[in-house]
Amino acid sequence: MKEAEHQEDAIIATDLRKVFSEIIAVDSISFKVHKGEIFGLLGPNGAGKTTTVRMLTGVMRPDGGSALIFGHDSVHTPIHAKQRCGIVPETANAYTDLSAWQNLMLMGELYGVPKHYAEERAASLLKALGLLERKDQKVQGFSKGMKQRLILAMALLHEPDLLYLDEPTSGLDVQSTQLITGMLRELNRNGITIFLTTHNMEEANRLCDRVAIMRRGKIVAIDAPERLKMAIDRLHTIEISFNQPLEAGDLSLLPAITTGRREGDKWLLTTGDVDCAIRSLTEYSMQHQLKIETLRTLAPTLDEVFLRLTEEESA
Ligand SMILES: Nc1ncnc2c1ncn2[C@@H]1O[C@H](COP(=O)(O)OP(=O)(O)OP(=O)(O)O)[C@@H](O)[C@H]1O
Ligand SMILES: [Mg+2]
Repeated sequence: MKEAEHQEDAIIATDLRKVFSEIIAVDSISFKVHKGEIFGLLGPNGAGKTTTVRMLTGVMRPDGGSALIFGHDSVHTPIHAKQRCGIVPETANAYTDLSAWQNLMLMGELYGVPKHYAEERAASLLKALGLLERKDQKVQGFSKGMKQRLILAMALLHEPDLLYLDEPTSGLDVQSTQLITGMLRELNRNGITIFLTTHNMEEANRLCDRVAIMRRGKIVAIDAPERLKMAIDRLHTIEISFNQPLEAGDLSLLPAITTGRREGDKWLLTTGDVDCAIRSLTEYSMQHQLKIETLRTLAPTLDEVFLRLTEEESA
């Protein structure tokens, strides 16, 4: 067991697999989460993210492969290893007919945290997450964002070394999202390893040291977010229309424009350099005495980025 403690990795998943009748939810995926990093599992709905988290946290038994959590098999993880993990699941797990405070105290008892310490910790977590004034209210009256912040507090009460969060900011407003991501950064600065799932590319970019991209049960890429960001940047679209139709011009030939096609009275252009593309478009419009009527830049969808990354992987 001493040996396990020396490992550099908080999680080692090897050929992890889960099948539900016909559906291969998780298709033999392997990855490592290093101690001290924020690792993001990014994927669209149904990719297999929650199933992966469930297997890692020992809620669900894998059909194949294994996961080592601090060196211990996730299926047989001894209690002391489990104690080092905190979980923010996909659906709220707080008791709605109890108050925020009672939920936290229950969590403390569950994890054997001494009462006076649990109280101290609960108060400081509620304060940091903007819930101290609501601590004695029943959770059923909480908004989605408040519930999510409480669940994060509950997951942190026993000071875990590894925190799992399944779509922690999904459906939350900007303020709750910022409170939660701010807290995650601070926890990470204090040495906590974080494993989170998201379908939000920007969030993965901003928050994670490494991102694994999951699609249809498989991991299509694992990298620092820069590569993901590069794929996103190269796939920007510009939608433009002028006050009159272009006579014979072909906008796709302009500098910085990768591809271009006409769609009704608009042109849809792709570019790897939005700034430069807009400059060449304004120049073109001036040269041809055209007026730009509408101009929109569109970020790529997750699916477009996936396709690009998968193409690159197989190229
Ligand atoms: N208990 C279950 N029984 C049957 N099928 C399941 C079960 N749990 C998940 N699945 C299926 O496995 C696949 C992966 O689901 P999972 O919930 O892991 O995806 P996800 O990436 O978390 O999606 P979301 O972004 O919607 O939360 C889906 O096709 C889903 O229908
Ligand atoms: Mg999910």
